[in-house]
Amino acid sequence: MSAVILAIESSCDETSAAVISNGKVLNNIIATQAIHQKYGGVVPELASRAHQRNIVAVVDEALEKSGTKKHELDAIAFTRGPGLMGSLLVGVSFAKGLAIGLGKPLIEVNHMQAHVLSHFIDDPKPSFPFLCLTVSGGHTQIIRVTDYLKMEVIGETQDDAVGEAFDKAAKIIGLPYPGGPLIDAYAKQGNPLAFKFPDTDVPGLEFSFSGIKTGFLYFIRDEKKKDENFVEKNLNDICASIQHQLVKMLLKKLEQASRETGIKEIAIAGGVSANSGLRNSLKQLAGQKNWNLYIPKFEYCTDNAAMIAMAAHFKYLKQDFTALDTAPLARMPI
Ligand code: KG4
Ligand code: ZN
Repeated sequence: MSAVILAIESSCDETSAAVISNGKVLNNIIATQAIHQKYGGVVPELASRAHQRNIVAVVDEALEKSGTKKHELDAIAFTRGPGLMGSLLVGVSFAKGLAIGLGKPLIEVNHMQAHVLSHFIDDPKPSFPFLCLTVSGGHTQIIRVTDYLKMEVIGETQDDAVGEAFDKAAKIIGLPYPGGPLIDAYAKQGNPLAFKFPDTDVPGLEFSFSGIKTGFLYFIRDEKKKDENFVEKNLNDICASIQHQLVKMLLKKLEQASRETGIKEIAIAGGVSANSGLRNSLKQLAGQKNWNLYIPKFEYCTDNAAMIAMAAHFKYLKQDFTALDTAPLARMPI
């Protein structure tokens, strides 16, 4: 079934639009909101307003650069959740308006499902069943995927997401938001074993990152009492050490999940999958365990509409459309 779909992503602080034609992503336009940097985190009201300012230009660019006229679209897709309510509302309202105006069907997409389905944008593609470690600013989940739209969360964080742990650690040592990529950059020059942080393990396939965050806060506070320039003098080692511990905690549970399910097709997705420490350690582990490993392109790791378009394509094939009176859902089960 051939289809051209416009997809819109607005769940957090990226306004993004993409066009997909017969399962092939034609482009992926992303407007990142720099405004949150000075506040040390995403300010929901400002995010919502920035989406309103950006969305027309972003959608226009996606249509124009893919050479698609509005009347050629077969469906309009959007992120329904999870995400920030005010941000989601902009995407939902825009998509609904367009669908009603053009008389085309609407397709709702679950943001976390879309992160998993980003693996079907390019080759090589994982085969079913596979495990996907989905790590972002809002989520840390191990997902067992048995078909394009059939997936189940088999482990997740009980408190903070790992991206949040990266960002909070960065904030504690004075780095701007989002701190994850900066920790990654400084860590490249540092010794990962220079400092030791607590391994706050919890049973089963669950994660917990609130303990390591507090441990890090107290460690930095105590060291700064002894030497006020501690952070400046040891920035690379601090970043390498906290990254090492966070990555270790992720991989321990992923390895356990693979052992318990017997699945060796392993994928990662979400913003934190851009982390080079995680990518390198994962490649090493995959070699030892004989895993087939799937890591998306950087562009498809953080929030983007290409993954929403990919998910929408699979829903279109099943003619799984959404009612026009639909509202955003901040928390949406997979
Ligand atoms: O998936 P995403 O773009 O948005 C959410 O849905 O949350 O993920 C954003 C998160 C942020 O916490 C950011 O710091 C983190 O991904 N991140 C990284 C890296 N790049 C992005 N964390 C560590 N290392 C990176 N290279
Ligand atoms: Zn995301």
